[in-house]
Amino acid sequence: MSYQKEYRESIENPEAFWSRHAELIRWYEKPKSILSQDEKGFYHWFKGGKLNTSYLALDFHVENGRAEQAALIYDSPVTESVRSYTYRELLDEVARFAGVLKNQGVEKGDRVIIYMPMIPEAVVAMLACARLGAIHSVVFGGFAPNELAIRIDDAKPKALVTASCGIEFTNIIEYKPLVDEALRISSHAPETVILLQRSQAKASIQAGRDFDWNDLMSSANPVDPEPVDATDPLYILYTSGTTGLPKGVIRENGGHAVALKYSMKAIFNTNPGEVYWAGSDVGWVVGHSYIVYAPLIHGCSTILYEGKPVRTPDAGAFWRVLDEHRVNTFFTAPTAFRAVKKEDPEAKLKQQYDISNLRTLFLAGERLDPPTYDWLEGIMHCPVIDHWWQTETGWPMCSNPMGLDPQPVKVGSATFPVPGYDIQVLDDEGKTCDPGTTGNIVVKLPLPPSCFPSLWNDDERFRKSYLSQFPGYYQTGDGGIIDEDGYVFVMGRVDDVINVAGHRLSTGQMEELIGSHPGVAECAVVGIDDELRGQVPVGFAVLKDGVEMNHQDLEKELVSIIRKEIGAVACFRKSALVKRLPKTRSGKILRKTIRQLATTAEVPIPPTIDDPAILDEIRDAMQTSGIGK
Ligand code: COA
Ligand code: AMP
Repeated sequence: MSYQKEYRESIENPEAFWSRHAELIRWYEKPKSILSQDEKGFYHWFKGGKLNTSYLALDFHVENGRAEQAALIYDSPVTESVRSYTYRELLDEVARFAGVLKNQGVEKGDRVIIYMPMIPEAVVAMLACARLGAIHSVVFGGFAPNELAIRIDDAKPKALVTASCGIEFTNIIEYKPLVDEALRISSHAPETVILLQRSQAKASIQAGRDFDWNDLMSSANPVDPEPVDATDPLYILYTSGTTGLPKGVIRENGGHAVALKYSMKAIFNTNPGEVYWAGSDVGWVVGHSYIVYAPLIHGCSTILYEGKPVRTPDAGAFWRVLDEHRVNTFFTAPTAFRAVKKEDPEAKLKQQYDISNLRTLFLAGERLDPPTYDWLEGIMHCPVIDHWWQTETGWPMCSNPMGLDPQPVKVGSATFPVPGYDIQVLDDEGKTCDPGTTGNIVVKLPLPPSCFPSLWNDDERFRKSYLSQFPGYYQTGDGGIIDEDGYVFVMGRVDDVINVAGHRLSTGQMEELIGSHPGVAECAVVGIDDELRGQVPVGFAVLKDGVEMNHQDLEKELVSIIRKEIGAVACFRKSALVKRLPKTRSGKILRKTIRQLATTAEVPIPPTIDDPAILDEIRDAMQTSGIGK
């Protein structure tokens, strides 16, 4: 099938296109409409259809000849263990854990927070929620109690599922004290906590509230999948916006299943029965879509890797897993390979392994920067493909369509819009940019299946953040160009969101926290280029009159605030003390100029700046604090 023909149909006749692809999944009841709008004007796919995502991911395959095929391969160098679950075994675990949740009073539509490391029980808990029609919200284990509490208060869960610890390289991170603290400070703490005790750390149990995973499993009865409406939410996943409050992205069951199933062949060119590995974390959207749901719905064996690209035990970790499990399709973030490249620049460790089963390497989470692409291109035997997407969409917006007809790679580009996405580049006034001219990347409405219909509890923010700037279009928050051949180049965020080691974080949120320091009058946080993590946040703070502090003491306190309130994952390690911030004459902080000062020798003086002399002051403060080049 030619990409161009398929793409054109998806844009010109989306209902016929998606109606055909909806035939590829099993429905209890077929949708009554393919695309509809609700009373608020928001779009929904497959209204009236009834299905169950856990049925599609498990029961369907057990009933259709895959019962003894590996569904989930758990590979954990940090615990030196590997365990494989067949579809039958995984179904058994999920059905029983659904029974556990049901016994705890969890019903269709209830929310369940999952705060777990990369262990099979995290996947079991997600699928068990899906089985009941309950809505899971997975919170990444690197987030601090305050972040967990914010999500608890927004989602108002019936239960929280956790484990006694996560393992980062050789560090045991005890989760239970973090959970206890989050529950203490939240206003909607759930009545039930289900805790998996791992052998590396034993957590304390609060009688009456906390229950042991294994105790509950031993007496639970399996539960059958509950048919849900296509438009019922499967999950809420919180992601960073421009303020301290994360956005609760809603994913609906029907569109999600159809789009993910389609993506596995059209984009990833992966076939049922093959081995698929997304080296990410279940706390991120990549983990939801491509560790858990898409590979299982497609009948693949999926890998759950509890390790790092390096030092678990070495920079050969990826090659070992690819070899040992005969992986056919691999997907990870460029930052992970930058870590490998740093430790093993000539990829010598790769020679110890046979990765010939690998057909394609996919990269996303941040732009595949040309130096990393060039390095990978030089060492890999297979295509290296950049593809672009977001938590909001749940699946790629741009990619090289490897299962339709692969296109020549242009380095630095995520290639073409995926069928279903009418992608355009507009200037700030909403006019279409000429090919090659940078602007805002937008998607013409309606968005295709799987993309969020709104934000949990916040239709207004949904409208304001995504739909208001360019009426009729979804504002992605990314900037870039479409060139004369139609290739899309995504160059970076146009808002206060940064991407640190493939993790999406809000500089606005960090500014709010730093601003809460009693000595700080005002501040700016910007993401500056970092060789390993792509970007890292650094702070620039102005002290209140009369406050005396040196930059080292202030930095220590600011680092500790961000670590405590957001978590270590923010990677906030540097700040500078400045007398004032560069601003426009109307008082807007010139963050872009600060960013440029950290990376470039020649920084253009913004015409709107109120006092150009300040640039030298900022440069000096950066030098004192060891920030930038
Ligand atoms: N639980 C608890 N803490 C976590 C965590 C988790 N799940 N993930 C990260 N952290 C902590 C780390 O321990 C570290 O803490 P420290 O400051 O005390 O050392 C901090 O957060 C920063 O983590 P990170 O930026 O990941 O640095 P690292 O040195 O631990 O690892 C890489 C560097 C590049 C190996 C790692 O970032 C990586 O594998 N990135 C790939 C990311 C990815 O796959 N993203 C998915 C998007 S597709
Ligand atoms: P997240 O919602 O955490 O998946 O982060 C989404 C953001 O990451 C996007 O809006 C982009 O800014 C960035 N991103 C993800 N993949 C790519 C890519 N392939 N190229 C450029 N930016 C990307």
